[in-house]
Amino acid sequence: MNMEKIRRDFPLFGTMLNGKGVVYFDNACQTLRPRAVIDAVKDYYEKYPACGGRSSHKLANEVTRKCDEARKTIAKFIGAKTKEEIIFTRNTTEGINLVANSLKLNRGDIVLTTDKEHNSNLIPWQVLAKKKGIIHKIVPSKQDNSFDLEKFKEIMEESRGNIKLTAMVLTSNLDGTTIPAEEIIKISRQYGAMVLLDAAQAAPHRKIDVNKLDADFMAFSGHKMLGPSGTGVLYGKYRLLEKLEPFLTGGDTVEYSTYGGHKFLPPPEKFEAGLQNYAGIIGLGEAVKYMEKIGMKNIAAQEYKLNKFITEEMAEIPGLKIIGPADPASRGGIVSFYVDGIDSHQIALILDETANVMIRSGQHCAHSWFASRGIAGSARVSAYFYNTIDDCRVFVQNLKKIINVLR
Ligand code: ALA
Repeated sequence: MNMEKIRRDFPLFGTMLNGKGVVYFDNACQTLRPRAVIDAVKDYYEKYPACGGRSSHKLANEVTRKCDEARKTIAKFIGAKTKEEIIFTRNTTEGINLVANSLKLNRGDIVLTTDKEHNSNLIPWQVLAKKKGIIHKIVPSKQDNSFDLEKFKEIMEESRGNIKLTAMVLTSNLDGTTIPAEEIIKISRQYGAMVLLDAAQAAPHRKIDVNKLDADFMAFSGHKMLGPSGTGVLYGKYRLLEKLEPFLTGGDTVEYSTYGGHKFLPPPEKFEAGLQNYAGIIGLGEAVKYMEKIGMKNIAAQEYKLNKFITEEMAEIPGLKIIGPADPASRGGIVSFYVDGIDSHQIALILDETANVMIRSGQHCAHSWFASRGIAGSARVSAYFYNTIDDCRVFVQNLKKIINVLR
């Protein structure tokens, strides 16, 4: 990869803050956007700022055409069979809520998750447990925080007959580990359970083929993969989407309505109620094209290189603990760590204040995991393909200094 050329595509890398460049390591929250995405959004507002899928004047037709093109690009990117399997949402959370509220789950039905779900794949099931009496079960991770397939099989067996959905985070935002999705899906099938994957931290980082994987539903966010803020996708197998009741209803979801009733449009329209984020959708299509140009294998390889460097450097810091497996190859672009006796927020604040190194600190919307382990929080570096070894060096050198001062 030509890093200099790639970095020129991201305006933020040309920016100085307090006389210093920026080291952006909060990519698990949102990535930066390349010029191609920014231009696509700008073009929408400057050249055809109209409604899609409704009016039929020149501007509206262009919006409809561009959104349709984005849908096709995204369908191809994840190996969906048709573009109609792609529903645009605001984020992963909305996609998961759509499935949770549209599946007809009843009292006693079991939904199985991991023990390190983001709140977006935890709270919806807790709410349904309260409202409808569904049962939410959890697969505990192994000692090193990786997925315990044997434990999963045991829980599936004890849930036989009632397990309706395996809803799991594909790659964890907490520690970057990825679950063995193929095996999990095969086993879920044997017990008649559907599978929903939270791919917010997976889709930006490596090739996923939903068709080969045989996932039933998969949710991910655009802003974690170079796309505009507040964009997301829910993939669903078409025959399942046809059966689901929409979660939000209203404008553009129906073929017709009378005072007494209505007829829903087929998927994806029946799920996309109201005016859509057209600029965002078009920008997301461009983001996917950009990622494909870089190549998903190159993205994963660069993240590994950066993670390896940081992990090796951190081994020299006494009292520093990395969450998750020791091998950086198992943690994608994420290094989540804490230092005994030092507040993770302080580390993040001082890194930002003194060196423009931007990371995230806290519980990363995975409060339940931290509460169960009695850990206050962690500082989290999340790298992406445009980060360099120089970025890592700046981060590690400053981290070492800060820890020495705070100790
Ligand atoms: N889920 C996002 C993160 O982990 C917000 O940073």
